[in-house]
Amino acid sequence: QRAARIAPSILSADFTRLGEELDSIAGADYVHYDVMDGHFVPNLSFGPGILRQVKCHTQMPVDVHLMVEDPEQSVGWYLEAGADIVTFHYEAQRHAHRLATLIREHGALASVAINPGTPVAALSSILPYVDMVLVMTVDPGYGGQSFIEGSCEKLGELRSLCSSLGVSPLVEVDGGIGVANAERVCAAGADVLVAGSAVFGAPDRGVAIETIREAGTR
Ligand code: DX5
Ligand code: ZN
Repeated sequence: QRAARIAPSILSADFTRLGEELDSIAGADYVHYDVMDGHFVPNLSFGPGILRQVKCHTQMPVDVHLMVEDPEQSVGWYLEAGADIVTFHYEAQRHAHRLATLIREHGALASVAINPGTPVAALSSILPYVDMVLVMTVDPGYGGQSFIEGSCEKLGELRSLCSSLGVSPLVEVDGGIGVANAERVCAAGADVLVAGSAVFGAPDRGVAIETIREAGTR
């Protein structure tokens, strides 16, 4: 049995009570930290200062999702602030190999994300240099959007590409994930499920995490 790993996105948390919100997701596997710069995506969220505070508050590994233009310029701030996993967007960078190597040299795991409109084939040269791939299941920018049907086919294509290259990165999905689709995405190859509104919108976050994990465990 392979248990799905759950990464609640604190973009959907109540920022005025962030400490309690983090405590409420203690049963999860990672904290998903969505950085938005108002350029790569239309929205703004939080930066390295709040990441440092989150790292002081929780023992859980923090999965930093950089939805920013030119991540080479700002990645150092997040590594310094204690990011455990750094995900950059394939669409936002120029030198993917250099960026992934830099992240690993700082002792973090390197992860590359693709938007729904980017084909899996774009990842072939970088796949041997990353620890995780994030397949976006919505166009990034906001929490609470609906899962794009057809994402499971991309997960299948990613699985074939990885096996043809002889690599086995973790596969993460992000956007509109919840109990209704956890089983499908995991059957198609997802290992890590990001869930924002499905966790923080639930009355009992512990129960929500457990329910999504069970649905995704195969
Ligand atoms: C989307 C972000 C997601 C978002 C997920 O731009 O990258 O991590 O917070 O939220 P839900 O699970 O509500 O779609
Ligand atoms: Zn995210």
